[in-house]
Amino acid sequence: MEELTIPGIESYAEANSTPEPRYLQLIQENTRRLSDAPQMLVGHLEGRLLKMFVAMIRPLHVLEIGTFTGYSALSMAEALPEGGRIITLEVDPEHARIAQEHIDATPYADRIEIRVGHAMDGIANLHGPLDFVFIDADKSNYIRYYEAVLPLLHPGGFIAADNVLWSGDVMDASKQDADTAALREFNRYVSHDDRVEAVMLTVRDGIMLIHKKPDVVP
Ligand SMILES: C[S@@+](CC[C@H](N)C(=O)[O-])C[C@H]1O[C@@H](n2cnc3c(N)ncnc32)[C@H](O)[C@@H]1O
Repeated sequence: MEELTIPGIESYAEANSTPEPRYLQLIQENTRRLSDAPQMLVGHLEGRLLKMFVAMIRPLHVLEIGTFTGYSALSMAEALPEGGRIITLEVDPEHARIAQEHIDATPYADRIEIRVGHAMDGIANLHGPLDFVFIDADKSNYIRYYEAVLPLLHPGGFIAADNVLWSGDVMDASKQDADTAALREFNRYVSHDDRVEAVMLTVRDGIMLIHKKPDVVP
């Protein structure tokens, strides 16, 4: 993944953050062997940040959209409070199979349920309330996912959406491909939405952190 800030700063930040556990390093290595797009997983720094979000929010009901090989779901599962659960939605059965293998090899298997199918169908089958949602699937559907999960989100709940800087392409007016345009529109849409407060974090490929205002009735 292209570095968006001062060259080397992400490595410096990783070197000065708590290391990822050995089992997640092995998942990264296995993903590099099995996938031609291993950079899709959030990696060390963002994985530790997701764990920290979960430790701060202490959510009982987490939804992840985009499982891939299970790295981010496991990062979050590490910090779940007693009784906390993650449902993670994945359209690709092969990704889901690999993720299940990775998850089954950890002590967190009873905290994570993978549901295979299009995320919009997965969301339609949820009842809520959700406390925390991590959006990290196909970029063209980000606004649809956001609108579908917001009513299910507990007032005061949080959403984190990944890749909102898209290697910096969102700032480059010459980049007009569908994914870049969708992320640009998502960023504009969320930051102008009165139902929430949003802060864009420039960690890795950009994370939009969204807080549903506590007085917004689901
Ligand atoms: C960027 S990867 C997720 C990485 C993962 N969150 C991690 O960090 O370990 C995106 C995943 O979303 C899945 N995906 C793409 N479109 C989807 C859809 N419509 N519904 C559910 N999953 C989808 C892809 O198959 C891929 O596994």
